[in-house]
Amino acid sequence: MITTAPTFDDLAQDTGPHPRAGASATGVAVAGWGYALPVRRVTNDDLAQTLDTSDEWIAERTGIRERRVSGAGESTGPLALAASRAALARAGLTAADVDVVVVATSTPERLIPATAAIVAAELGITGGAFDLNAACAGFVYGLTTTAALIGQGMARTAVVVGADTLTRFTDPDDRATAVLFGDAAGAVVLTGTERSAAARAGGRSPAAPGLVSCDLVGDPEGIDLLVVPAGGSARPATAATVAAREHYLQMDGREVFRRAVRAVAASVDRTLARAGCTADDVSWFVPHQANARIVDAVLPRVGISPERTVSNVDRFGNTSAASIPLALAEEADNDRLAAGDLVLLCGFGAGLTVGTALWRWETPA
Ligand code: ACO
Repeated sequence: MITTAPTFDDLAQDTGPHPRAGASATGVAVAGWGYALPVRRVTNDDLAQTLDTSDEWIAERTGIRERRVSGAGESTGPLALAASRAALARAGLTAADVDVVVVATSTPERLIPATAAIVAAELGITGGAFDLNAACAGFVYGLTTTAALIGQGMARTAVVVGADTLTRFTDPDDRATAVLFGDAAGAVVLTGTERSAAARAGGRSPAAPGLVSCDLVGDPEGIDLLVVPAGGSARPATAATVAAREHYLQMDGREVFRRAVRAVAASVDRTLARAGCTADDVSWFVPHQANARIVDAVLPRVGISPERTVSNVDRFGNTSAASIPLALAEEADNDRLAAGDLVLLCGFGAGLTVGTALWRWETPA
């Protein structure tokens, strides 16, 4: 067992297989999980002090009652770092065990370097580190990508984070967007597992844990529905773009709503069909927590009951890429996930981008 991280020089001279990866895993277990939240709690009534809105309007249209808003020292990097630390501690693993760090975010700590590199540097991880932007669907994309890396033997242990601070990119004077978002990070530690043929044949654990099926799709007609117009290479930030408030998120909420319901339901159906499963096989549905009404509209279309659906949008609002790992971590902390449970995760967001994963839950023995 390797107990200390190899140095960069060690790795540069190593032309053989990855030092900690090796043979392809037959499954992927969730060794740890964690989340991080800003301290400041902002209720709908708090927002109504400065915006022409009300607790009644926000709660009725979105299901949101309060959210966490990041303050000093609570930008995306520190939140992602804290969630990663919690997940590694829960897993009983250290920096030396980690082959790759993936941070799904659309609100990175900086444009350069990647937030994942910042997290890795803070933790002393010398494995690979990269960010991934699939908006609010980002965690599902990170999870599926990482499961593939582990399945191919290119990594053995990975930290997958969803982290966003969208309150820093929403116009505080725009009541249509300012009421929707909260800040957070959630993380899981994934490890490859091997099963002996005898154990599988003995029926002790007939199905491998980890990714059972997935569906990663887009709705290109929705490309302009959720946009931060300036601050990228097309329109670098200038005094003029800031004065025009083009560094803030602009959204056609009604159209996003309409398209999201349709796209999520279709993606869930495809994911279940690929696995040869039906909605009855799903133990827990963990949808992106954007709006309770979107989830309410999706459930009858896919045939999953509210009792099997995880919801925390009332307490945290839409935390973008953090919403699914945050909900998952709360479920795991509350001992609601059992070995063998089929957990259906579905994210959707700007792009429009949709990602669904059916995941067989297991923690390492
Ligand atoms: N308080 C009070 N009134 C408001 C507010 C507010 N916060 N926001 C809008 N209104 C008003 C509008 O001005 C409009 O008034 P009008 O009829 O006089 O013109 C009225 O309420 C209705 O506005 P709509 O936008 O049509 O309201 P809708 O019922 O569609 O709800 C909402 C708006 C909550 C944004 C909804 O469309 C929604 O949730 N859409 C999905 C958004 C989403 O999930 N986005 C995130 C995607 S994930 C990502 O990648 C970031």
